[in-house]
Amino acid sequence: MTLSIEPLAKALGAEVRGVDIRSPLADSASAAIIEALARHLVLVFPGEPLSDEQQIAFSRIFGPLEMTKGANPSAGTVFARQSNIDLDTGSPMPGDDRRMLYQKANMLWHSDSSFKQVLSRCSILSAREIPAVGGATEFASTRAAYASLDLDRQRELEGLIVEHDIVYSRRLVGFQFTPEEANSFHAYQHTLVQDCAITRRKSVLIGAHARTIVGWPEQRSRALLDDLMARATRPEHTYRHEWRNGDVVIWDNRAVVHRATPYDGAKYRRLMQRTTISMGDRTA
Ligand code: OGA
Ligand code: MN
Repeated sequence: MTLSIEPLAKALGAEVRGVDIRSPLADSASAAIIEALARHLVLVFPGEPLSDEQQIAFSRIFGPLEMTKGANPSAGTVFARQSNIDLDTGSPMPGDDRRMLYQKANMLWHSDSSFKQVLSRCSILSAREIPAVGGATEFASTRAAYASLDLDRQRELEGLIVEHDIVYSRRLVGFQFTPEEANSFHAYQHTLVQDCAITRRKSVLIGAHARTIVGWPEQRSRALLDDLMARATRPEHTYRHEWRNGDVVIWDNRAVVHRATPYDGAKYRRLMQRTTISMGDRTA
């Protein structure tokens, strides 16, 4: 079978067929997928659900896996599980469960792990159980946001540093870390403008964790970050993924923001399992 890559939307997203990501990949197939991700920023692989081992093996072609921290139900493993199911009991969790409030932050546009010292290259989300209605995931291109600026404004962004902080972003949805949890996080600074080594296209590192532009007054920071987000999330810069069971979706965390959308957690089960690949050679 030959690899086929069909765009799904104007600015980002493509569906990949003709490759079985549950089996070890030839180097040429891995290289084609890495190239396609750099170009399309979001890749959809339809197919049978991955096992945990298959997801780890496929994830490793992109780099080292992060360990999950925080109040995610899978903290301490390489998986992050977005789910309304209590993994210990197998039953749905009530909407006011602390773990559900924690996941509510996924409904804010964000970039995974932008609050960490080492950024994430990409995330891989595997649909294990999907609700019959709702629970789509939306993606927006921060590469398109950058490209929408005129040259002078693009130049103004060079050299700006943005601080990302998960304690700040969780507070936006009313979630409070315990003092002990909060102490395990720090705010980290990154260049606002990010560069893709393959396409040389630039993007901006924004999203819910982006608290401030270093050295700028709060209002001016917020205005810039909000303007960039408004540009990224223009309808023509987005792709909405309606999940089919077994779908695997990969996105570039330095050029894409994404968000979860609602579903009826009292009526339906949803289990999405993520691996997160680090930009660095460390897994911290
Ligand atoms: C994630 C995430 C969105 C969703 O796994 O990083 O934001 O729709 N998921 O579950
Ligand atoms: Mn996410």
